[in-house]
Amino acid sequence: MDRYAVVGQPVEHSRSPYIHTYFAIQTQQQIEYGRLAPHIDQFEECVKDFFNSGGKGLNITLPFKERAYLLAQQLSSRAKIAHAANTLWIEEGRICADNTDGLGLIADFNYLNIPIKNKSVLILGAGGAVRGVLGPLLEHSPAEIFIANRTAKKAIELIEDFQTDSNPGNAKVHAGLITDPRLSRSFDVIINATSAAIKGEALVFPQHLFSSHSYAYDMSYRAGLTPFLEQAAMHKAAHYYDGLGMLIEQAAESFRIWRHCRPKTDELRVLLRQQLNNNS
Ligand code: ATR
Repeated sequence: MDRYAVVGQPVEHSRSPYIHTYFAIQTQQQIEYGRLAPHIDQFEECVKDFFNSGGKGLNITLPFKERAYLLAQQLSSRAKIAHAANTLWIEEGRICADNTDGLGLIADFNYLNIPIKNKSVLILGAGGAVRGVLGPLLEHSPAEIFIANRTAKKAIELIEDFQTDSNPGNAKVHAGLITDPRLSRSFDVIINATSAAIKGEALVFPQHLFSSHSYAYDMSYRAGLTPFLEQAAMHKAAHYYDGLGMLIEQAAESFRIWRHCRPKTDELRVLLRQQLNNNS
């Protein structure tokens, strides 16, 4: 049976085995999908051992996405731009890498009818999560993207890494502090890509970012509203969504790379939402 796994540290709470097993049953394919949690120094060895022993594909999660990108022998343009990979597979003996996080975000935006073209987009955070989604967002021709971060230098370095040829609509791309005076207005789409909630920390940001037509999107998710979405709701954002759909859609893109067919995601969205709410 073809073997797949998710590699991360920690990885015991990962939903990827459930999601990919669900996709395999839906598309009538025989796969086995496990979890690997190598010691922090042994990521590369673990990946090589997995493929040397006949494994077909890996999902990579925190904190190894950048090391997966460095380890791969063949990179998709998305992984190159992101400097991070979440999907590995073998082709003609070479480790290949892609980054499906951005595709996952875009697929979820399409599902949720969140517009990007000609819109002003604000992203809070400037870490690996943002590197994965900036290229695909730019491909959809927003009018403007502002990357606002607690540490301005990191946001500025991030936008410097993005090439002009990954910005077909010539969106204005700015970066600065989360308290930057240029943020004294509202945006059409505000995305939280910080890890503040995961670490149980407060996320402080200007409250007038939301208007009665704004979409608020949190890349993280949990039962009920995330702290960021609670603030969006309180400040009367028109729509607010968490990142459970992005998780499912990025997995569907990985599955498509490995198995050459894209599974349907509608029912799984309902199932995972129920599970999340039941386990809270
Ligand atoms: P990821 O791969 O999930 O993006 P990361 O690379 O560690 O993780 O980046 C986390 C992001 O969340 C960073 O932009 C970080 O800000 P700094 O660059 O200043 O560290 C941001 N972040 C984490 N905790 C935060 C908090 N409490 N308030 C604001 N931003 C926070």
